[in-house]
Formats: sequence, C-alpha cells, structure tokens
Amino acid sequence: MSWAHPRLIAHRCGGALAPENTLAGLRKAAEHGYRAVEFDVMLSGDGTPVLMHDETLERTTDGHGRVAETSDAELARLDAGSRHGAQFAGEPVPTFGAAAGLCLALGLWANIEIKPSRGADAETARKVAARARELWNGSASPLLSSFSVAALEAARETAPELPRGLLVEKPPPDWPKLLHRLGCATLHCARRHAGRRLIEEAGREGVPLLVYTVNDAEDAATLLRQGVAAVFTDRIDLLAEPS
Ligand code: G3P
Ligand code: MG
Repeated sequence: MSWAHPRLIAHRCGGALAPENTLAGLRKAAEHGYRAVEFDVMLSGDGTPVLMHDETLERTTDGHGRVAETSDAELARLDAGSRHGAQFAGEPVPTFGAAAGLCLALGLWANIEIKPSRGADAETARKVAARARELWNGSASPLLSSFSVAALEAARETAPELPRGLLVEKPPPDWPKLLHRLGCATLHCARRHAGRRLIEEAGREGVPLLVYTVNDAEDAATLLRQGVAAVFTDRIDLLAEPS
C-alpha cells in the first residue's frame, strides 16, 4: 500500500467545527493544522458544481427545495452558515471553483466526493472531473470518489488521469474485482465495516483503505496503526496525525 497523502482528512471541509461544505470549514481545517479535506459536490439547477451533501436545501441552508432545481442566482442568496451557528451567518454555498481555489491557497489536499442528485450521476461526474482537471492543473491531483458506480465510470472517461476512489458503506465480497474494473486506486468504507480482515485484505491487495467517519482519537490511532491509510473525521479538534 502506498499512500502519499495526509492520514487525517477533515470531513465535509471542517468537520464539526464549521458549517459543512463551506469555505469557513476549509479555513477551520487549515487553522487546526489539517492538510487534507473531503467535501461533497452536486450540480445546481444551472449545472454548476457546488458544495452540497443533501439533495434538498433545508437541512444546511435557509433555502427550500431541490438543489438540482435551484438556479445559481438563487443559491448565491442562501445562508449556509446559520444552521450551524450564528457566528457563521451569511456563509455562502460555495461553488466547486471557489472551494478548489481556497484549497490550493491554503495547501489543502482534497478528496472530492461526487454526490449526484437522483439520475444525474454521469452528468455530475463529467462536470466535476472536467472542472477538477482545470482547477488543479499541474498541482497535486485531488482524489475523486463516489458511491455511484455510474459516476466513477463517467469520471474515468472524462479525466482518466485523475485518481478515483470507490466509496461504499460495506465493501462487497468481490470489492477487489469491482475496484479493478472501475480503475479505482482506493477503497473508502464506513467505520463499522473496517474490521481487521478487511484492513489485512486491502493490505494484501495493495489498496489504500480510507475509513469514515472516525471521531474518537484512540479509535483513529488504532485504525492507522493497523494499516488504514487515512480516516475522515468530524473531530478536527481531537484527532492529530500520528508522529
Ligand atoms: O467520503 C466519505 C463520506 O463523506 C461519505 O459519507 O454521507 O458524509 O458524504 P457522507
Ligand atoms: Mg462525503
């Protein structure tokens, strides 16, 4: 297994310390000494890649309805910070371009999770991969990942040079075959399915295993010691890189 990236990755930009998928989150991650972040990217109603986890706006913003049916102009008016805390009022829904620019400025390596709204798998992946290629042009390549096999296939067609990770909750028994067929470099799975057997299997296969979401410092240290390449965490205030 070769893993040349940080072993701690701030989940949804700044984990629990900032509103998810925001520029404030990226700044928080950097302030806490993090050198890697994960965020989710979906298409707006105008087809613009923006940072968003849910298909609907209600949980994280003061907007209503489906992201895929909301124009860029409407998205730009939304507050994606107040739900997390008054001190984040007015925090915008970032475009993928703005988030990429800030990652590069802050020296944050990125795992870009392609999060298609229903039925938009290939289109989302094509746009995200093409934009990622432009935005990171020449800089340390980000890692694209997705729960959607169709998205991973489309990302590969669009920008085959960008590394991809297969994201699953529970790895299927034939995961090495699937990973190979998709040309993915990494496997990402949920904490409760990252047992010793899987960690050892990933080690034998030479595949970096990334585990989400690990919020206990001791648990993270154990996983990293056992051979997990990196963990995604919300607790950027608690987890520090092993020395
Ligand atoms: O990419 C790891 C993790 O972010 C996957 O779950 O729902 O937080 O996007 P979710
Ligand atoms: Mg995610």
